[in-house]
Amino acid sequence: MASAMQLNVKPIRLAFHSKLDSKHSHKPARISCAAATPSKRYSITLLPGDGIGPEVISVAKNVLKLAGSLEGIEFSFQEMPMGGSALDLVGVPLPEETLSAAKQSDAVLLGAIGGYKWDNNAKHLKPETGLLQLREGLKVFANLRPATVLPQLVDASTLKKEVAEGVDVMVVRELTGGIYFGKPRGFGTNESGEEIGFNTEVYAKYEVDRIARVAFETARKRHGKLCSVDKANVLEASMFWRKRVMAIAAEYPDIELSHMYVDNAAMQLVRNPKQFDTIVTNNIFGDILSDEASMITGSIGMLPSASLGASGPGLFEPIHGSAPDIAGQDKANPLATVLSAAMLLKYGLGEEKAAKRIENAVLETLNKGFRTGDIYSAGTKLVGCKEMGEEVLKSVDSQVLTVA
Ligand code: IPM
Ligand code: MG
Repeated sequence: MASAMQLNVKPIRLAFHSKLDSKHSHKPARISCAAATPSKRYSITLLPGDGIGPEVISVAKNVLKLAGSLEGIEFSFQEMPMGGSALDLVGVPLPEETLSAAKQSDAVLLGAIGGYKWDNNAKHLKPETGLLQLREGLKVFANLRPATVLPQLVDASTLKKEVAEGVDVMVVRELTGGIYFGKPRGFGTNESGEEIGFNTEVYAKYEVDRIARVAFETARKRHGKLCSVDKANVLEASMFWRKRVMAIAAEYPDIELSHMYVDNAAMQLVRNPKQFDTIVTNNIFGDILSDEASMITGSIGMLPSASLGASGPGLFEPIHGSAPDIAGQDKANPLATVLSAAMLLKYGLGEEKAAKRIENAVLETLNKGFRTGDIYSAGTKLVGCKEMGEEVLKSVDSQVLTVA
């Protein structure tokens, strides 16, 4: 029987979500932070990608290095081309060398891919195709996308304070199946000779069963509530999805399971998001609902994600895109990537303490009032990507100084 524990998720004692706990942010760090000789070594593949990707990855890399060193962890980083930058360099969005480096490493941290320049490329030459090939190649079928409203950023939410306050949702998105990968797909002509484009939404039993188990395990480590989102009033693939989720539910009698049609779920997410704890859904609904959930938190620039398979390295990336309009201007919010690095430590390597250091540092930086443009509000300090990174580093560091 598959379980989240086999999902390259090392056993963890804390809650299975990245809720930042302000209570701990000023506590002295433990003595272990003074570790001078690294006792653990991990290899990380960095895929900066396009647009703001390189800027946010550079910040996250430094944060990862520092937080790791304080816990006796040493990283070796290998940067590889991916997305549009790989297209420009070698003509494909996911070079073989990049995939094999990723497969051989302990975890993969991705910035963002895509940009206007490649928007009109043929499908196999799109940066997005490279990302899908990477997910498929690493077999990372379970995508965890937490959307937590931080008290510091509640005013950045477009929803009313009383609606947004305290929201803490985990979207578990199936990532390597469904309409993104289903066959047949393509372009053609119909019976009347009219041009058509078509895709197939298809799920096999093993695909629904394994993502359902991850979702039930995830809910169990959170508040024990799981909502499965589908379109079972119309689509056969969704009727089948619901049938399998209900079958797997028998293994998890302690979890309160509900089902919701996707149109209603989209509406409920802005009407009363606090009703949700863990959501499980297919690839395309998860793509859409996770963007929507991210906005409740104030900015898509804050949200990390973890993509995990049954074995092998996980893939960690911010939910946001490459934002070509602000690329190279030092305006990007690096926190989603920094928090993805924390997820890498927690879910990818089982390095819970180092992850917590990063989460606390992000919280402290926000407490000090530093904000990038996307989360800026009157009375806070507007900073660029680099300065935000430096402030996070200072906060990671100050946890050591408290001990010294
Ligand atoms: C995401 C993105 C990707 C997706 C794109 C870039 C292919 O929107 O990670 O949510 O659709 O999965
Ligand atoms: Mg998306």
